[in-house]
Amino acid sequence: MKYARIIGTGSALPEKVLTNADLEKIVDTSDEWIRTRTGITERHIAAEGETTGDLAFLAAQRALEAAGVKASEIDLIIVGTTTPDLIFPSTACLVQHRLGANGCAAFDVNAACSGFVYALGVANAFMRSGQSKKALVIGAETLTRMVDWTERESCVLFGDGAGAVVLEASAEPGIFTTRMRADGGFKHLLFNPVGVSVGFKDEPNHGVRISMLGREVFKVAVKTLDALVGETLEDAGMKEDEIDWLIPHQANLRIIEATAKRLNMSMDRVIVTVDKHANTSSGSVPLALDYAVRSGKVQRGQNLLLEAFGGGFTWASALLRY
Ligand code: ACO
Repeated sequence: MKYARIIGTGSALPEKVLTNADLEKIVDTSDEWIRTRTGITERHIAAEGETTGDLAFLAAQRALEAAGVKASEIDLIIVGTTTPDLIFPSTACLVQHRLGANGCAAFDVNAACSGFVYALGVANAFMRSGQSKKALVIGAETLTRMVDWTERESCVLFGDGAGAVVLEASAEPGIFTTRMRADGGFKHLLFNPVGVSVGFKDEPNHGVRISMLGREVFKVAVKTLDALVGETLEDAGMKEDEIDWLIPHQANLRIIEATAKRLNMSMDRVIVTVDKHANTSSGSVPLALDYAVRSGKVQRGQNLLLEAFGGGFTWASALLRY
């Protein structure tokens, strides 16, 4: 089988919605500032006790249902996440057991916001090498657990959510190409300063927070994504006008618009969910894909370009026929 093909999508969002107006009551910000700088109007926030694994499980169930595939048929589960329920077992193992897919390969990929697209690239490699016939690829996060709600520069940007796809090995396309890149030299621009090995801190939330130089991240993201989409088209031997939909990482509407401009794509060929979901890190691309499929925008046979950029820095893309 030459290709990995998406045969079902699903997603899950926490019930609780936090609007820009709600944030105005917490920090010194305004709906106007948030909307004009980012395009965000609201985001979903996980309730106390609601975990990344819970959202991943729901998204996976919905993707399996859409694909008409039983959990027992799945031979590989990869979860892209930076906010796992536990340090171990992996969220993929927790989800596997809840689905009843026990026995198959299951692991997490941590590539920050690029987590889902990285996971898709890994699953594609498994399928192309014949090691998997039916895979579940999930992007799931509760990134707001890391948010410092007193820091207006970052707290307005993030939300929680998950999306999933079922992949099947197929003679029909399929994923044409995937790219995964990273540069650890940019750690200082975007990171979480605590962890098991360096230790936790005697600070609010044990020191867990998002340390970000937003303006610098913005500049590198635009430049890097510009090059990434060009390389991806070249890899696949495609031209800009052969892409039906751009499904970008949903961090900031201005970054998305810059990438669309690079591709000569009008915004009506770009899937935008950042307004309603904010930046859900690994959840963002599969959430946007599932929204696009269920709303009838994305149709079978269309070419989709998925891309993401995140902490690491990491960046990744996938060009596929849906
Ligand atoms: N409300 C009101 N004012 C604010 C807020 C806020 N929430 N946040 C910052 N400001 C102020 C700043 O203090 C600054 O004030 P000053 O001019 O008096 O100094 C002013 O607004 C402008 O700040 P900038 O940082 O220049 O604003 P910018 O236009 O760059 O937008 C933003 C900031 C939205 C963070 C943007 O740079 C961005 O989106 N960067 C990318 C961030 C990103 O995508 N991060 C996630 C990466 S993915 C991952 O892996 C987690």
